[in-house]
Amino acid sequence: MKSRYSKFCHPKINENIKNSVLNQLLENISIYDNGGIYERLEYEFKKKFYLKNAIAVNSGTTALFSMFYGSGITQGDEVIVPSYTFFATCAPLHQLGAELKFADCKDNGNIDPEKVESLITSKTKAVVITHMWGIPCDMDELIDICTRYNLLLLEDSSHAHGATWDGKMIGSFTDGSAWSLQGKKILTSGEGGIFATKHRRIYERAVLLGHFNKRAKKEVFDVDLKDFAVTGTGFNLRMHPLAAAIVLPQISIFDKMMEEKRETALLLKKGIDNIDGLNLVHIPKKANPAWYAFPILFDETKFKVNLQDFVKKLNELGALEADIPNSTRPLNEYFLFHSPHKISQNYSEKLRVNKKDFTNAIQFHNKMFKLDVWYGEERFNFIENYLFILNLVVDLYKK
Ligand SMILES: Cc1ncc(COP(=O)(O)O)c(C=O)c1O
Repeated sequence: MKSRYSKFCHPKINENIKNSVLNQLLENISIYDNGGIYERLEYEFKKKFYLKNAIAVNSGTTALFSMFYGSGITQGDEVIVPSYTFFATCAPLHQLGAELKFADCKDNGNIDPEKVESLITSKTKAVVITHMWGIPCDMDELIDICTRYNLLLLEDSSHAHGATWDGKMIGSFTDGSAWSLQGKKILTSGEGGIFATKHRRIYERAVLLGHFNKRAKKEVFDVDLKDFAVTGTGFNLRMHPLAAAIVLPQISIFDKMMEEKRETALLLKKGIDNIDGLNLVHIPKKANPAWYAFPILFDETKFKVNLQDFVKKLNELGALEADIPNSTRPLNEYFLFHSPHKISQNYSEKLRVNKKDFTNAIQFHNKMFKLDVWYGEERFNFIENYLFILNLVVDLYKK
């Protein structure tokens, strides 16, 4: 059946983006230090998200790796990570030999602070969190725990560009934050990422990891670190200048896009609130989400079909982007996390994931599907169409 509805287009490649890329092509396509387009991008990103130090890198995954390496996480350290997130939140820790401890989520998919506290040992070095689908984690409780136990609090903010907690920008008030700028993200360079931290030493270590020689010589001052400036410590993680040119102009329209996404989320909430069998996820009072996506919880007891068939029908009728996440799922299912010893001597065979740390993650994953959160003029068409199709499919399948 041919769909009646077109796919939503993000990012919108407008004249500003085209001109920015063209200008960059003519200006410079390889920058060794932190000048030019890097300087402009990092300056604007820091200004927008209230950050002290920020570095552009070539993916969200390497932004996370920069954060972990910068923080000095190493073999023998334990790191508490979410049981439910995209795998790249935790996969880079494996390169450093750290032992992962999985903390289960709450009923909104975000890490449960109580579970975090129960996993702390004398070896714990850091707590890693992801603001799932753009909804901020409970930052008061997490900061309280990390302060009491003297742990680093590190964020994967890849879904949460512009989300706030108690009025403060996510990413600006913990020990470190990593954002993906991959093609689907709210701000996107196609491939790319940003790592930010308020700690100069963590920042300088991240510079050494991926930005050897010219940039490192300009930015690494710590007496213990500056001798490594020429070679760095192993990688070149620089963002491509053309990628930087793609994302930079988006920052100037970011506030408008966020305002429109928040309006869309409000209208979706109103439309779905009264549908029996479809539930909205809990949003903490102090949280203002970024609405990377709009998660909906499907109550199978109210329907004649399962979640897969329900979403399949939504897709068939034109709600093309109604989606059951695939790669983002309980991490115990991944070989890397349950059998790390098979690829690295850093891990003992005895290391086992404990299924009970994933109970809520599995439940959440099994009942969640998500919608896009549209912006721009056409958002009202999408909202109307999707709510229409949702109601149609609910009526078709309700018990
Ligand atoms: C939560 C989360 N963390 C990390 C990543 C990895 O980012 P990238 O694909 O830019 O490496 C993604 C998305 O791709 C993500 O959604």
